[in-house]
Amino acid sequence: MTWHPSIPAAEVHAKGSVGVEVDGLRLALFSLEGEIHATGNICTHAFALLTEGHVENGCVECPLHQGLFDIRSGKALSAPVTRDIATYDAKVEDGIVWIDTE
Ligand code: FES
Repeated sequence: MTWHPSIPAAEVHAKGSVGVEVDGLRLALFSLEGEIHATGNICTHAFALLTEGHVENGCVECPLHQGLFDIRSGKALSAPVTRDIATYDAKVEDGIVWIDTE
């Protein structure tokens, strides 16, 4: 495990989704029902940032071609995306989101 600090949890909860760069990775932090989830931020289909997409029912819709990912599992749910998005463990300590990039 390699935990890295990122941004205040309150910022993620306030905005719903925030892009961060941690350990050289472009990650997306999502606030779902009071919990924070971390995924890769770049769509697996082409280049688009998922934090610019629409979040609904625990899923994020890519802003470019509307591919759908389950935020908790990273699973690719609808065309044109076929490859899952990476997910990362996240925890909050002293109000800061930490992400395990291993
Ligand atoms: Fe995300 Fe095409 S870039 S669906």
